[in-house]
Amino acid sequence: MADWLRDRAEDELTARSGSLPGIDVVFAQNDAMAYGAWRAFQAAGRTGIKLIGIDGLPGPMGGIDLVRKGILAATFTCPTGGKEAVAYAVDLLSKKEGIPKKIYLRPRMVTAESLKEGTPASTTAPAARAPLGRPIVLGFSQVGSESEWRVANTKSIKNAAAKAGIQLLFEDGRQRQENQIAAIRSFIERKVDIIAFSPVVESGWDEVLREAKDAGIPVILSDRAVDVKDDTLWLSFMGSDFLEEGRRAARWLVEALKGEVSVHIVELQGTIGSAPAIDRRIGFEEVIRDYPQFKIVASESGDFFKDQGYEVMKRILASGLPRVDALFAHNDDMAIGAIQALEEAGLKPGTEVKIVSIDAAHGAFMAMLAGKLNCTVECNPLLGPQLMKAIQDYMAGTDLPIRMITSEGVYTAENARRDMKGREY
Ligand code: AHR
Repeated sequence: MADWLRDRAEDELTARSGSLPGIDVVFAQNDAMAYGAWRAFQAAGRTGIKLIGIDGLPGPMGGIDLVRKGILAATFTCPTGGKEAVAYAVDLLSKKEGIPKKIYLRPRMVTAESLKEGTPASTTAPAARAPLGRPIVLGFSQVGSESEWRVANTKSIKNAAAKAGIQLLFEDGRQRQENQIAAIRSFIERKVDIIAFSPVVESGWDEVLREAKDAGIPVILSDRAVDVKDDTLWLSFMGSDFLEEGRRAARWLVEALKGEVSVHIVELQGTIGSAPAIDRRIGFEEVIRDYPQFKIVASESGDFFKDQGYEVMKRILASGLPRVDALFAHNDDMAIGAIQALEEAGLKPGTEVKIVSIDAAHGAFMAMLAGKLNCTVECNPLLGPQLMKAIQDYMAGTDLPIRMITSEGVYTAENARRDMKGREY
């Protein structure tokens, strides 16, 4: 423990230098302590220990200088956020649209190699890009039209592009990755200025994103994330925190049924391999893990479709489960399909079977008003304004945050009539 202080780190390690085992690497939570460790090891004649820090500040004896001098093996920039805070404050005051609720700034790894390559160590904005003198051309590859959410998302993207004067090339992937890859390749061929897409699944994008990077076309992830080895293949992600959505669904269910001795839960998962299905499940299980009486007794994918939600629920109910106390559906459409299956099986959705789903789309509010759905966790599809603002900022030379998270709520049947007023989807 050295309280972020160089001298404290040096003193602590000097005091223990006789009792320290062989050390290969030291990770210090800031560069100052890493430097203090280095001074202690130097005084004790201990060399060859790799030191890794964080902050990556410029200036004499800042992390970047310490790497350049060979004192640190690596450091990682920790952007201060000051510039972004002022910029977003000005946007808020000028009532700009598309301002994210939370942003994660881009850390950068600084090593002797990256300094030699000239990789920018700081997060200062890239040189302002020359004004195009024509509308920005955006290629957008959409997942498909599987749900109310997706339809609202597509409408938001198209309307916001028109309002921003951005030329939109829009391709519907019809739920298939190969269609989205073909669309991205067509955007590259057409030399668009920027590509955005909502990946139907997390994996399998490395090659086509490498092609976009090699063509010098930046890619923004909208709504869903990708799992690629090299995260420089995409510029920024904007959308929801799916993990938190899963946690929120579980927290509501635990609160609603905490008095029960045992709660048998059916889970209707979204598209297998998609970021929302993966993360919502993780978030949900993270919460119920602390409540052993809550058990997922059946879990299958309905692929985010209403009719598959119906078919899967019907099959689960016919499988001879002793009972179903609750349903957790990864989206409202599957919940609405499952409601029909529950009713056909003579069960009472919303009372005998508590139902929590995700999206907060119009259909969910209607089901809550009918007393058949209990809670819907919002996943905001209205990403269009945020996407277009990010694109315009980027084209004007702003260094985009690595993640931009939308603002979302949780809606229950008790307040459905009040909360649905004025909603756009
Ligand atoms: O990626 C967001 C998810 O995709 C929504 O929750 C679902 O309705 C849509 O199909």
